[in-house]
Amino acid sequence: MGTTYRTIIEPFRIHSVEPLRMTTEEERVGAIDKAGNNLFNLHAEDVLVDLLTDSGTGAMSRDQWAAIQHGDESYAGSPSWFRFEAAVKNLFPFKHVIPTHQGRAAEKILFSVVGGAGKIIPNNTHFDTTRANVEASGAEARDLVIAEGLDAATVHPFKGNMDLGALEALLETNRDDIPVVVVTITNNSGGGQPVSLANIRGVSEICRRYGVLFFLDACRFAENAWFIHEREEGQSGREIADIVREIASLADGMTMSAKKDPFGNIGGWLALNDDQIAEQCRNVLILTEGFPTYGGLAGRDLEALAQGLSESVQPDYLRYRIRSTAYLGEALDKAGVPVVKPIGGHAVYLDAKTLLSHLDPLEYPGQSLAIALYQAGGIRSCEIGTVMFGRQPDGSEQPAAMELVRLAIPRRTYTQSHIDYVIEVVTDVASRSRSLPGYRMVYEPKALRHFTAKFEAIL
Ligand code: F0G
Repeated sequence: MGTTYRTIIEPFRIHSVEPLRMTTEEERVGAIDKAGNNLFNLHAEDVLVDLLTDSGTGAMSRDQWAAIQHGDESYAGSPSWFRFEAAVKNLFPFKHVIPTHQGRAAEKILFSVVGGAGKIIPNNTHFDTTRANVEASGAEARDLVIAEGLDAATVHPFKGNMDLGALEALLETNRDDIPVVVVTITNNSGGGQPVSLANIRGVSEICRRYGVLFFLDACRFAENAWFIHEREEGQSGREIADIVREIASLADGMTMSAKKDPFGNIGGWLALNDDQIAEQCRNVLILTEGFPTYGGLAGRDLEALAQGLSESVQPDYLRYRIRSTAYLGEALDKAGVPVVKPIGGHAVYLDAKTLLSHLDPLEYPGQSLAIALYQAGGIRSCEIGTVMFGRQPDGSEQPAAMELVRLAIPRRTYTQSHIDYVIEVVTDVASRSRSLPGYRMVYEPKALRHFTAKFEAIL
């Protein structure tokens, strides 16, 4: 028995590197102005540390790149498809697996089949594309996260939990309008917070009792399972894959973006048990994505995902992953920067409502903070607040539940010194946050406005 050391290291070393382009503050002020003050409009080469998203931005492993060489591009029945299907079913043993090019394609297919006018879809919290696809079908997207999940400062081990009382009350009055209940693991819009196994069991029991389908939005299933392993009583002795399989056994299906935990640069799937719904979904798939053994993906993508799935549940990786996100969050918290607590799995969420309390939510405090982080240090983050969620289906604009700025950490991509730099920049910007201006939107599209809106500072 040797000494146990406390430093948690990356369980990998670097094999191939990408250069970063250094920029000056003056260049960045010009670049964000030219981008209409929308970080999605920047050229990525003008970004130094890109924390816009953890989606599709992770580093693939040597074994994933090797798997790509095995990609078989047969139109139908490729061996790459069978490897992918087996890897998905190993963790999520649903009867039907329907490959899509990314998560939102799975959502579009599912909600175009089960959604529609007059329907209500409950979720702990819909992410932006999920909400948009529910609403595009004519249905209502209803968020039912527990009260603790709506307060940035409240510490709770499973802040992503569904409010089971509220779910049951809704099913009692509107059961016939509810085709499916969705639980998002982890809860991305609410701080990357996990959902407990007990809560998932509870949702499952309620759905079975009322005879409605229960689906997972499972993009970050491995991170969620790690939190269950670490925080939930009786779970620490189990294998991560075993926890994932139990979660899957409690549900009737899932939508998935494979650009998150499975280390894909692209990919997704829809999986479910119901034969009839699966047939309807496959018919839509053939219209919009492709033949059912490739969906929207190349054979080589299917291979990379099959390999990535097996890496996503490895405990050494997950320990490092969750610890390195906490490292950033804990340092900011210690420096007095308000963050959503506890720290989530894939990202640290800055509380812009507190930090920029001089601004009204309709002056977009989160957007203002995100712009300032870019100007100061070339860090690209993402507003998750009134810009993202403020426009209502009836056309009105309402403040979102929280004004957050998400620093999403791409998987296996940045080192500790990149993160130390982020800590320095965020702490500096936070120290002068009260001097940051509000913004007004000068252009917005009809749906998912945050991706293409343009802003002007209110001076
Ligand atoms: N569901 C959740 C919880 C997500 O976080 C995302 C994507 C999707 C569905 C849609 O998947 O992008 O593959 O179509 N989230 C990314 C993000 C974009 O930055 O959080 P997709």
